Amino acid sequence: MADLKRLGVLTGGGDAPGLNAVIRAVVKSAVNAGIGCLGLEDSFDGLLDTNRSRVLLPNNVTGILRIGGTILGTKNRGNPFAYPPSDAKGAPVIDYSQRCIDTFHRLALDALIVIGGDGTLTIGHRFFTLGLPIVGVPKTIDNDIFGTMNCFGFDTAVQFATEAIDRLHTTAEAHHRVMVVEVMGRYAGWIALHAGIAGGADIILMPEIPFDLEIVADRIREREKWGARFSIVVVAEGAAPKGGKASIIHAAHNGAVERLGGIGALVARRIEKLTGKETREVVLGHLQRGGTPSSYDRVLATRLGGAAVDFARRGLFGMMVASNPPDIVPVALQDVVGKSRKVPLDSDTVTTARAIGVSFGD
Ligand code: F6P
Repeated sequence: MADLKRLGVLTGGGDAPGLNAVIRAVVKSAVNAGIGCLGLEDSFDGLLDTNRSRVLLPNNVTGILRIGGTILGTKNRGNPFAYPPSDAKGAPVIDYSQRCIDTFHRLALDALIVIGGDGTLTIGHRFFTLGLPIVGVPKTIDNDIFGTMNCFGFDTAVQFATEAIDRLHTTAEAHHRVMVVEVMGRYAGWIALHAGIAGGADIILMPEIPFDLEIVADRIREREKWGARFSIVVVAEGAAPKGGKASIIHAAHNGAVERLGGIGALVARRIEKLTGKETREVVLGHLQRGGTPSSYDRVLATRLGGAAVDFARRGLFGMMVASNPPDIVPVALQDVVGKSRKVPLDSDTVTTARAIGVSFGD
């Protein structure tokens, strides 16, 4: 067991329901093992100065298990190795990494638990290669982090999207319309696939399967023929037509990755044109990231937080706590970062969806 006196914890990237549950588990299991905890604010910005962190005791985390967001704040454009310029035109990016390492030591930290998606874990890995004792905790509602079978936040997002599809079903049926639901899923279609199946969607479009809207329109016409005068289409924000590209709202800017969106509207307009059926689109957007985590996500987040402290105590640095049911296992960050976990197209979830008549537009 490593002799830890104090560990830091931060949350980075987009939020996901369950972040607070991880923080709570980290603080409670650390303090119960005699280790102090410091919460760093707004991702790695918490390492820019010694006054951007606060001591976390069990009484600071009591009651946060069921709350969405993160009590520490988060940021998806705060890479200390290439800190984004101020809004002043032409300002250069700045490398603050040494300053962060100095702050880590000035705060007398013995380990740092980094909770985040690929961007945050990549930064954590870079700090590990520079000598900081880092443990990563995977987070994304998109469920696409490589090396872990599932991520907290995903179940909550799917639950929300399923409820939305249920509601859209009744209005679609009443008006004999096509409803297109755009869900999150930048590189992988996990949310679209799971919410689509749970909600009984007729068509699911996801980044892994380039789609053809003529095929989608055929399915809608076919349904019409046998008396189903409405259809539900679920489309992941990162889905793209055959030979085309994902729909981008804003190009990458100021340290942030490009913003996707708008595919739902494009798909809806085209379906309307091809089928002559009235078609409406709904974008679920950040509603999928908010709200109280599901019981599944609370349990997973708690297990990952507890395991992160355990890894730190065992000196398992440069590792991510990964879910490999029924266990939480170490996976080296270097094997995780820069990759994403796509939906396997030969999985039984996809083949069963096809077998029951769901079209993927291919
Ligand atoms: O990675 C999770 C995610 O929800 C993606 O699906 C989406 O593209 C992105 O975050 C949106 O991020 P932001 O909050 O910066 O718009």
